[in-house]
Amino acid sequence: CGIVGYVGSKPALDVVIEGLARLEYRGYDSAGVAILADGGLATAKRAGKLVNLRQALEEEPAPEGTAGMGHTRWATHGPPNDRNAHPHVDCSGRIAVIHNGIIENFASLRAELAERGHTLSSDTDTEAVAHLLEEELREVGALTEAMRRVCRRLEGAFTLVAVYADDPDVVVGARRNSPLVVGVGDGENFLASDVAAFIAHTRDAIELGQDQVVELRREGVTVTDFDGKPAEVREYHVDWDVTAAEKGGYDYFMLKEIAEQPRAVADTLLGRIGTDGRLSLDEMRISDEQLREIDKIIIIAAGTSYHAGLIAKYAIEHWAGVPCEVELASEFRYRDPILTRTTLVVAISQSGESMDTLMAVRHAREQHARVLGVCNVNGSTLPRECDGVLYTHAGPEIGVAATKTFLTQLVAVYLIALYLAQVRGTKWGDEVFAMVQLLATMPEKVEKVLETMDPVRELARSLADEHCVLFLGRHVGFPVALEGALKLKELAYMHAEGFAAGELKHGPIALIEDGLPVVVVVPPRARAVLHDKIVSNIQEIRARGARTIVIAEDGDDSVEPYSDMVIRVPAVPTLLQPLVATVPLQVFSCELATAKGHDVDQPRNLAKSVTVE
Ligand code: G6P
Repeated sequence: CGIVGYVGSKPALDVVIEGLARLEYRGYDSAGVAILADGGLATAKRAGKLVNLRQALEEEPAPEGTAGMGHTRWATHGPPNDRNAHPHVDCSGRIAVIHNGIIENFASLRAELAERGHTLSSDTDTEAVAHLLEEELREVGALTEAMRRVCRRLEGAFTLVAVYADDPDVVVGARRNSPLVVGVGDGENFLASDVAAFIAHTRDAIELGQDQVVELRREGVTVTDFDGKPAEVREYHVDWDVTAAEKGGYDYFMLKEIAEQPRAVADTLLGRIGTDGRLSLDEMRISDEQLREIDKIIIIAAGTSYHAGLIAKYAIEHWAGVPCEVELASEFRYRDPILTRTTLVVAISQSGESMDTLMAVRHAREQHARVLGVCNVNGSTLPRECDGVLYTHAGPEIGVAATKTFLTQLVAVYLIALYLAQVRGTKWGDEVFAMVQLLATMPEKVEKVLETMDPVRELARSLADEHCVLFLGRHVGFPVALEGALKLKELAYMHAEGFAAGELKHGPIALIEDGLPVVVVVPPRARAVLHDKIVSNIQEIRARGARTIVIAEDGDDSVEPYSDMVIRVPAVPTLLQPLVATVPLQVFSCELATAKGHDVDQPRNLAKSVTVE
């Protein structure tokens, strides 16, 4: 969900709606606002995208006020209808609450409230908070203290923001295991799930810690823990501006973000390769000594980040010679992973807020493993919870389907693998040195791929009526295939599957029928064993009627006789090939989904950062 709060001198409704528009990628099942005005509280909410709320507000304008809050919802409790949209109000209609996360003890809280005579009108866990605040306010009178008292009774994960008509200059926020940042302006202050919401007004932010309550007033911000003790917070300056969070002439954020990839890759390399060709990653906060002690690496991540993790395994084991496992964050803590002080857990999350990943990190730290985060968002939760962090520098990614953050995650994991090789002095010394030099040339290679995408777009449009597309790869081409399939599912709502090409004969080959489009990622010719095997696989599926769409390096003519179409990418070493081979797949699904009339920035049922487990 996306959350915005504002106190200042501008019309709050405009600031809040603008902020919600920038956060809509976090959920678009419904949207709502609450504005403090004329000694009262005005709320409006609508199911569906923000545009529905805007329309409702045009028909029935809200009163003007200079404090308020807003919410875009990714539904958890209760279907996405008007009634369950946030804000939720108490019986008196003078307290409003918005919420992100799940309050686990909500059923007992609702039952208690009903017993004490409250009438709850929605199916949500959030509404219980409005009524609890109502009770506490009767006792303490001030919203901030009431919020602290209520938070102490809640279990689960939540960001809460509340306003109270009797406290018209105050917006109160609280967080536990769910994102909330403060924007510090001049005579105005902001609360939001992420800085994108207020970046047009201020680039000065405050990162809140766990279990903290923030009181927002025009003239300042006060942060305490749930018991009222002053809390320490970290102030930071956001290193990108509002233009980075706008479409800049593109129809969709996703198109812009795909186009930004050469720069994102370059920025993630920036300052990390020394003039002597050696890597310096001191910023990671994990010492070389500690890195030398490591005897096992476990990578945890979700969604597209998990695919980056799968590729990392090949790089880490090959270059650094350290055994490496990769696991879905949502599965990790439900088995009994063997972790010791010499295990390095690498948690990859572009948002730094995926709850599955955060919970896996906590589990790993409880078992005394060292945890390194790979994250794109300064001020998010993951870096706070890890021993060290390596930031990717993709800039804000607004399109729900990950593109540029994926490529920068690849760069980050390559850097980690090569750095491990450097500090551990593995036998691959020369190769490592050469790879670092090659990494530096990747931005221009990605640019080259982008320049030749017209035939891919044409192909995508021609396949818009297909029902299924398969993706095959071997070695790092296998995770690339998985990512290609995920993109197509997310954006085009088509059945798509990625397979290890060698597994095909063990079952999936039964799916091949006349005309079925199959995209095959072919490794470089330099890896002859891999390469030749996959060329055989292409022949096998073609013999069974598949329409073969082959991604192969420049100059690889061996695939021509068996391919209905060849998509060319620059020749690079196998391990680096995902950086160039993924790009055509992103362009392909984006174009195909657009041809089907879908909104690629906001695919149905999805949210960019999933802050519930
Ligand atoms: C959500 C998004 C995916 C993303 C995944 C992991 O499900 O829709 O696109 O890959 O979360 O996100 P993270 O922020 O942890 O990388």
